[in-house]
Amino acid sequence: MTGGILWGGRFSAPPAEELVAFTGSLAFDRRLLGADLRATRAHVRALARAGRLSLDERDGLLTALADLEALAAAGTFPFDEADEDVHTAVERVLTERLGDLGARVHAGRSRNDLVATDLRLWTAEAAGELADRARALAATLAVRAEEQAETLLPGYTHLQRAQPVTLGHHLLAHAFPMLRDAVRLDRAGAAAMARCPLGAGALAGSTLGIDPAATAADLGFAAPFDNSIDAVADRDFALELLAACASTAVHLSRLGEDLVLWTSQEFGFATPDDRYSTGSSMMPQKRNPDVAELARGKAGRVLGDLVALATVLKGLPLAYDRDLQEDKEAVFDAFDALAPALAAVRGMVATLAFDAARMRAAASGGFLLATDLAEALVAAGVPFREAHERIGELVARLETEGRALADVAPDEWASLDPALGPETAALLDPGGAIARRGLPGGPSPDSVRRQATAVRAAAAPGRPPARD
Ligand code: ARG
Repeated sequence: MTGGILWGGRFSAPPAEELVAFTGSLAFDRRLLGADLRATRAHVRALARAGRLSLDERDGLLTALADLEALAAAGTFPFDEADEDVHTAVERVLTERLGDLGARVHAGRSRNDLVATDLRLWTAEAAGELADRARALAATLAVRAEEQAETLLPGYTHLQRAQPVTLGHHLLAHAFPMLRDAVRLDRAGAAAMARCPLGAGALAGSTLGIDPAATAADLGFAAPFDNSIDAVADRDFALELLAACASTAVHLSRLGEDLVLWTSQEFGFATPDDRYSTGSSMMPQKRNPDVAELARGKAGRVLGDLVALATVLKGLPLAYDRDLQEDKEAVFDAFDALAPALAAVRGMVATLAFDAARMRAAASGGFLLATDLAEALVAAGVPFREAHERIGELVARLETEGRALADVAPDEWASLDPALGPETAALLDPGGAIARRGLPGGPSPDSVRRQATAVRAAAAPGRPPARD
């Protein structure tokens, strides 16, 4: 027997070539093979419990399915390109091997409940893998942050130098979103495993006495479906995975953008390791940050995947419609975009060489400590709004003179502002400005070390379920 379709009986002519080419899904849903075999094993046990298969028949089917699992693991499952989809392929191979017994496996189930079950199993695993990778990136950011707890860096708002921070502090500002994304991804995995659709059949269950609760438990789901129509129509879990992927990809794009900026000659704050640099086919001198750029660019795809599936679902009548076949490519594409991006960015961050002197210089010049001066006036009793005005005027004056705050001599301060004295000079050391910011969550080295410890604990494998 060759591959084909599971539904030809009521037609007098075989399907048109164009229909086969257009509607088949084996090209992409073959990735559900492992899940389909697992779900099929559970269904075989369900049929046996319902008295629809003898114990011998059950064991014959389970042995054949175990063989097929070994072939799947070895990548040698005998797909036939003519199989309409992965479910058809599994049933065909079982029937080729077991004859009539193989043909009995699809009783009481439909591809509608089967594909929803398969995709839930696949989604849960993918979510776990992505969450692990997001946590690994957070942990690497924390390691680099600890190492760079004292390295001065200009902090930016509007991409203008704003106030000095530490490099560690900035790196951790990328780690916390990754931890939150890991929680989102875990939640999407839990959503996929919350309800088991198997036993819902095409949409109305079956008359064969199958117990959906036992099937759900068999497959590790938290519970069986609440409603058999909803069971085959629901793709919330896929949307939830895609939403978590979109958030992760957006955060990764922001980290990617910082890496692109830092590794530019204009910033010159960091150099990618040779193993994480790319060259130009024409310009021999180039060292490009393609990993960071692609990490930034992948967000476009992943956001597209979320919108694509949401759009497929919008206005779709209950229960199953073939439109739902479009769910898989969106989910696979988001996973395929994000999983390697998380790993590559982790590697790039782990091996990045920082230019601490250049960052320190950028954090030291100009007027980055103007806010500290205004706060010194506040400490001397000046209302903040007035202090802001006075220091603003002082900045404008120095700017016209082509001078920075650091160029003011200690005994000159009093002539610039009556509330400032020679001790003002001591306020203008950026290292001191950082040390004065020991507030929890702030940029001081001690605070950075505490934050890094927290990130590492939250990112550790086997951690208790995280909160966000
Ligand atoms: N390949 C199909 C899908 O991914 C399987 C379900 C087909 N069901 C149907 N009623 N034609 O959705």
